[in-house]
Amino acid sequence: MEHSTNNPPTSQYALITGASGVLGTAYAEELARLGHNLFLTARSSQKLAALKSRLSSAYPAISIEFKACDLTREEERNSLFSYASRLTFDMLLNVAGADIQKPLAEYGKGQITFQIRSCFEGAAELCAFALSHRAEQLRIINICSICAVQPTPYFAVYSASKAALLSLSLALHKEIGNKNTSVTAVIAGAILTRDDVKEYINSSGFWARKSAKTPIYIVKKSLKCAFKGKRKCVPGGLNRLVYLFGKLAPERLKIAIAARGRKHKRKDAFGNPAPQDATAPQDTATPQDITAPRD
Ligand SMILES: NC(=O)c1ccc[n+]([C@@H]2O[C@H](COP(=O)([O-])OP(=O)(O)OC[C@H]3O[C@@H](n4cnc5c(N)ncnc54)[C@H](OP(=O)(O)O)[C@@H]3O)[C@@H](O)[C@H]2O)c1
Repeated sequence: MEHSTNNPPTSQYALITGASGVLGTAYAEELARLGHNLFLTARSSQKLAALKSRLSSAYPAISIEFKACDLTREEERNSLFSYASRLTFDMLLNVAGADIQKPLAEYGKGQITFQIRSCFEGAAELCAFALSHRAEQLRIINICSICAVQPTPYFAVYSASKAALLSLSLALHKEIGNKNTSVTAVIAGAILTRDDVKEYINSSGFWARKSAKTPIYIVKKSLKCAFKGKRKCVPGGLNRLVYLFGKLAPERLKIAIAARGRKHKRKDAFGNPAPQDATAPQDTATPQDITAPRD
């Protein structure tokens, strides 16, 4: 499903992936408050429509477009790109991601591909799209994770995908960074987003609880970094310490610390009502099950 306003677009847009999620919605709200036109995407068109309707009432002066797209599917990405290609973009916020957390051996069929595509491949494609439909100024924000700087056992696919996104962000910033163009990698620690994530953080000990940040904190810090053209943003003093530790500590030690407390924890398919993948026996789940929209 897609939505086009009746008014022809008069200006530039901020494209937000994962706009239906907690952090993506917080970006949409803040950018709307700042008077930015928005292009929202995620898999659930119902959630996007509800968000558009709420923001349009609160901020009637801005133009809001949306189109549902499963970023793991090439044909849906192409359809998104062809729909959005009539617009120009001065911001791209790659917020979509899949935080499946469990031992690699427990992944169901298609889940690894799904997680890598959601966290990395989609974002890389969107960076290329935004560059070819850019306004004079273009600020890209890629939501990585503190897990990107250290291999994280029992969260291995996630940390590897976010590491790939971090690497892409830093390399791309070097390729295109100038006064008007930047790529900011947001190396976020725990963020108090969905209820299951908040519960997880609460049960994860002192450091997780102390370093966790609200979505609006991450949004404001990262927008500030992006508007200044910074290539990295590590929001929060404690997270900066963890980040520094990750850079300096011996690899074995930091991986051992990252593994602590994770062995028996499981997060599957975002903790949202499980698409069939999360509950289906491994040999019957298909990639289609896993990427089913969750309207
Ligand atoms: N929460 C934390 O502690 C934390 C820490 C560091 C980094 N992060 C990162 O922050 C980002 C947002 O996390 P959140 O906590 O706000 O999670 P969330 O509420 O579950 O939001 C995830 C968003 O991604 C979208 N999405 C997932 N798979 C998709 C796909 N295949 N195609 C298109 N859209 C897809 C979801 O929308 P649909 O379901 O409608 O598709 C949703 O809008 C993620 O990248 C996450 O890795 C989170």
